[in-house]
Amino acid sequence: MSWNAELYKEKHAFVFEYGNSLIEWLQPKEGESILDLGCGTGELTSQIAASGAKVTGLDASSSMIASAQEHYPDITFKVGDATNFSLPETFDAVFTNATLHWIRQQEKALDRIWQHLKPGGRLVLEMGGKGNVDDILGALEKALHNRGYSYKPFWYFPSVGEYTSLLEEYGFSVKQVLFFDRETELADPDNAIVEWLQMFGTYFLEQVPENDRLPVLQDAQEALRATNFRNGKWSVMYRRLRVKAEKINSDL
Ligand code: BEZ
Repeated sequence: MSWNAELYKEKHAFVFEYGNSLIEWLQPKEGESILDLGCGTGELTSQIAASGAKVTGLDASSSMIASAQEHYPDITFKVGDATNFSLPETFDAVFTNATLHWIRQQEKALDRIWQHLKPGGRLVLEMGGKGNVDDILGALEKALHNRGYSYKPFWYFPSVGEYTSLLEEYGFSVKQVLFFDRETELADPDNAIVEWLQMFGTYFLEQVPENDRLPVLQDAQEALRATNFRNGKWSVMYRRLRVKAEKINSDL
């Protein structure tokens, strides 16, 4: 998947704006070393760095990292994949916002996180939880079927039970969990659902010929108008899973 960093910041800034309150769960301290996994364009990385912690931002997208490095030249940013990154240091904490649901091989990402945490180190994460953006996905599925295309789920949106069990299997001790709905207003008053799907949902359209893609997205948007368009604004129902966990001392 390739990312347009400028479009992401212009139209989808809510992704990192909502991440501010996750930093309160992290409570970064001066002198700590922290990895921001899936740092995108670096806004949250720079907020964490403002605490005096030494932060490294890692993202699989080279265009996101180029934008982050340009805007925050004093912070270390690296291109790397969450499922196979290898850095020379270990960290007091790993912070990750709106990233883990993109990863099909979740076990590999947890293994990498575990290996990069110091004993006692903390993992603070927010991701889409079970039922996340079900409204858009339901409308898209129908729009694809109506035009003769198939739909296969793509993202990983786990339940609280599923994800905390997985963390425990990896040796993490779960300290704090929150599962909540966040109705999220989108930026564009006319075409917000189409734009959201163009930004994030390219996977679903790979099988659709170029000239039929926009009609599919427009059908999905129209199907949502009665429920997701109010007072001139489009919104989507995000469902978030937040967890704080610690790497308990062990030889795992
Ligand atoms: C999310 O942050 O929940 C999300 C963002 C883009 C695509 C899917 C989910």
